[in-house]
Amino acid sequence: MIPDIRKPYGDKIIRKLSDIKSLFADQKAVEEILAKDDPVIYEVYALPVPSDGDNLVIGTTILFPGRVGNEFYFTKGHFHNDPDAAESIMGLEGKGLALIQDRNGKFESHELTPFSHVYSPPGFGHRVVNVSDENLVFLSICRADVGHDYETIMADNFAMKVVATDKNLYNYEII
Ligand SMILES: [Fe+2]
Repeated sequence: MIPDIRKPYGDKIIRKLSDIKSLFADQKAVEEILAKDDPVIYEVYALPVPSDGDNLVIGTTILFPGRVGNEFYFTKGHFHNDPDAAESIMGLEGKGLALIQDRNGKFESHELTPFSHVYSPPGFGHRVVNVSDENLVFLSICRADVGHDYETIMADNFAMKVVATDKNLYNYEII
């Protein structure tokens, strides 16, 4: 059992389906879910640090299991405003994928499992997908002054979608 590294934390972000609904492919499924509920897709816990290049932001994300239509829950994803700023992502619990892509359309997917490590190089945006029926917990570390560009993702989305290939089992494919 790993220790609960969310504590102590100072900053907590909660993303609900309504916050990222436009990013899911199946908008009919989005509306059907939102008519009944607005589920939390993920939570991020971070220690507050000065936002300068001498500090590191260390965040723990809990990405809950679930799907919208046949598409697995994912984090919003972002690029860094600083094109020279990389990020380190380490799985802690559960099973997922880290998707990374650059602004020219080059993309990769990497399995994220406990204590596996994914490196998102400078210039690459990153998104994480939960492809299991359990919470996916991961740690992310980057410089505190990178700045977050969510606008590009909200406008263009990611190049890859991760969808279930079976109605009941958590098999997936990347399309
Ligand atoms: Fe990042």
